[in-house]
Amino acid sequence: MARHVFGSTGQAIEQIGQGSWYIEQGDKREAIAALRRGLDLGLSHIDTAEMYGDGRSEAIIGEAITGRREGVFLVSKVLPHNASRQGVRAACERSLKHLKTDRLDCYLLHWRGPHPLAETFAAFEALKQEGKILSWGVSNFDEDDLDEALRAAGKGRIACNQVLYHLRERAIEHAVIPWSERNGVAVTAYSPFGHDDFPEPGSTQGKLLAEIATAHGATARQVALAFLTRRTSVFAIPKAGRTAHVEENAEALGLALSAAEIARIDAAFPLGRKPHSLPMI
Ligand SMILES: NC(=O)c1ccc[n+]([C@@H]2O[C@H](COP(=O)([O-])OP(=O)(O)OC[C@H]3O[C@@H](n4cnc5c(N)ncnc54)[C@H](OP(=O)(O)O)[C@@H]3O)[C@@H](O)[C@H]2O)c1
Repeated sequence: MARHVFGSTGQAIEQIGQGSWYIEQGDKREAIAALRRGLDLGLSHIDTAEMYGDGRSEAIIGEAITGRREGVFLVSKVLPHNASRQGVRAACERSLKHLKTDRLDCYLLHWRGPHPLAETFAAFEALKQEGKILSWGVSNFDEDDLDEALRAAGKGRIACNQVLYHLRERAIEHAVIPWSERNGVAVTAYSPFGHDDFPEPGSTQGKLLAEIATAHGATARQVALAFLTRRTSVFAIPKAGRTAHVEENAEALGLALSAAEIARIDAAFPLGRKPHSLPMI
């Protein structure tokens, strides 16, 4: 699978990356080995947040990327209550320290909070001027939040919007993905395996995934990732604390589904109506 440009960054990366929520709760050495194996296999987009394990997820990633920072597209997030002009700077510096690096490739507002977007974005722009972040974006923004963000930031500034997207939660297909494609904003799909809600092999949905997977010599999870990244604007960040899981996820980079297979998955995991507010976890 070819690399694709990540929103307004101009940087091309693989469409599958690596999440890290709760990574500090597993075996640390295994988590570091898994992250490094992912980098070897092209999963350069590593996602973390100051919230994850109160900086312990960032610290594990810092160890994993030591000596290989150039090959990483590193993303972290500021908590909404820290997203004031000064708070963003302090949070970013803490994250850089945990991650043992001098820059983030992209820095996100984790979700909307008490501080005006214009203030948060001005803080992001100042960090960008200083080279501490190379781009910035948002997370858990619905269409109307994105409109407001675009008015506050101006065109070409927002690199991405990181949102919930898995086979059983496709709400972003209604408006968020079309909005993002119109405005050159990357969509990062979080919890692509439903966090802990992946179709059981024996269920009707699981059987369909298995049937399609068998036809490709692939697995159900690889089929799910290929479906979610079928549009070049969408980048998925499955979290895997085990090397075998990372290897399986990376194999999805080479999997292209036919239009007929996409239509069958679409029917088995119905889009449903547009919800009043964007689902998030
Ligand atoms: N912006 C936000 O508000 C937000 C919210 C939620 C998540 N996120 C980001 O998105 C990332 C991914 O979401 P998530 O962690 O919620 O859930 P997820 O990626 O949907 O699922 C993670 C679970 O799937 C398992 N797994 C991964 N690959 C597997 C494989 N090939 N076979 C079997 N099991 C596999 C993992 O197990 P092991 O760990 O044991 O390998 C883990 O239990 C997060 O880690 C975080 O970076 C962002």
